[in-house]
Amino acid sequence: MNIAIVGSGYVGLVSGVCFAHLGHDVICVDIDKEKVKNLRAGKVPIYEPGLEVLLKKYLKNKKLTFTTSIKEATKKSIAIFIAVGTPSKKNGDADLTYVENVAREIALCMDDYKLIIEKSTVPAETGKKIERTIKLNLQKKYRKGAKNSIDFDVASNPEFLREGSAIEDFMNPDRVVIGVESKKAEKLLREIYRPLKPKMVVTNINSAELIKHASNSFLAAKISFINAVSQICDHLGADIEMVAEGMGYDKRIGRAFLNAGIGYGGSCFPKDVDAFIRLSEKSGYNFRMLKEVRAVNEEQKENFLKLIEEKLWIVKGKTIGVLGLAFKSNTDDMRNAPSIDIINALKLEGAKIKAYDPEGMPNAKKVFKGLTYCKDPYALAKGCDCLLLLTEWDEFAKLDFKKIKAAMRQAILFDGRNFYHDQDMEALGFEYYGIGRSLTERKG
Ligand code: UDX
Ligand code: UDX
Repeated sequence: MNIAIVGSGYVGLVSGVCFAHLGHDVICVDIDKEKVKNLRAGKVPIYEPGLEVLLKKYLKNKKLTFTTSIKEATKKSIAIFIAVGTPSKKNGDADLTYVENVAREIALCMDDYKLIIEKSTVPAETGKKIERTIKLNLQKKYRKGAKNSIDFDVASNPEFLREGSAIEDFMNPDRVVIGVESKKAEKLLREIYRPLKPKMVVTNINSAELIKHASNSFLAAKISFINAVSQICDHLGADIEMVAEGMGYDKRIGRAFLNAGIGYGGSCFPKDVDAFIRLSEKSGYNFRMLKEVRAVNEEQKENFLKLIEEKLWIVKGKTIGVLGLAFKSNTDDMRNAPSIDIINALKLEGAKIKAYDPEGMPNAKKVFKGLTYCKDPYALAKGCDCLLLLTEWDEFAKLDFKKIKAAMRQAILFDGRNFYHDQDMEALGFEYYGIGRSLTERKG
């Protein structure tokens, strides 16, 4: 099938490459000329495992092309996915300016049937608004002398791709959700995903949009729940890792997304939780539970900072080494990374910050001023009064901690992801502090 994707960011690019892999002819659009130029040359602007290899393969056999022209993409395709950014406004609402612009442009250049599919995370009822925008602009076109009315459908097909494993998630989805209002739209979307033989959830557009909101907010709630429990563990001599394991074996609960830490970040959860709270307010419901999810997430960073302040005693003038900057491992994405608030607070208190991240440093340089970036964890450790583990990169599991300890001024490790085994670290001579693991606390 001929497919267009408008917006070649994380979601659009991964989807485009994967649709080409499924055998479709894909044309990806982006407003950013430089990005399109690089993508045409096979250069991926983000770090996503496996993406560049597939991009090059499908560029070469011409299953995948790039353009800056929505007109060109619309003419060549029957199904058009909208995957442009939907950033948060100051009040938490999703800013849908880009979505509206794209819908208008598609309407002004389409001259036969099109299926327009929203892929970006949008508030419920956006599908209806896209439909209205297209209708209004088609009318404008007829007034200018275009021929008869043009048939079209709008659908919702939310993405559930995790950065760092986006290709794997696309190719092996737990489910594909499609919100449709016509048999024709359903048939086309079923056809697009047929090679994956996925579990399909077919519903109306508003329900599909809500599935996305509710899923991401539920996952964020799971994280905040375990983080809240971790705070109690610290006071009761319990270990959150064992608590999560014990809970996780219950199939009704499951172990996934019960990793306590410094809170969730990234381009989705913080934004999606905010947007769902706002959407609920507009529907006349005060979603207090989600407000608490958000508050617990913020507190988790504050509690981590309090722990550092308490154990370091004096923060001013201390050298702090940060292992990991990206909002999670296997990505270079710094959007809403917990490292941002943590590092900024410590800098404000007068600490000197050294940092290392396998992929995140180029983006981090756009976020922070006055950090010393290091070439590896050993250079990072040199002269440090403590280390903070903020992103759980595999590479950090294999470090030579004897060498690290020897390079440090004092061997204190704050593990913001419970990545290391507390007793192993203590055996190596580190003063080790995790999240909700009171073993070290009890020892004093
Ligand atoms: C986006 C949405 O923000 C998110 O809500 C949704 O769930 C998935 O899509 P992401 O792909 O991470 O997330 O966004 P980003 O990496 O910022 O990519 C958006 C792309 O759209 C950028 O490349 C931008 O240049 C492009 N864009 C934006 C357009 O092509 N046209 C526009 O009018 C605006
Ligand atoms: C998320 C959704 O999972 C995905 O379906 C899609 O809708 C986009 O948004 P992403 O933001 O890429 O994906 O990463 P995810 O793996 O969900 O992690 C989000 C944040 O939660 C990260 O900061 C991560 O470190 C944190 N997290 C995750 C925890 O703190 N604990 C956990 O147990 C799991």
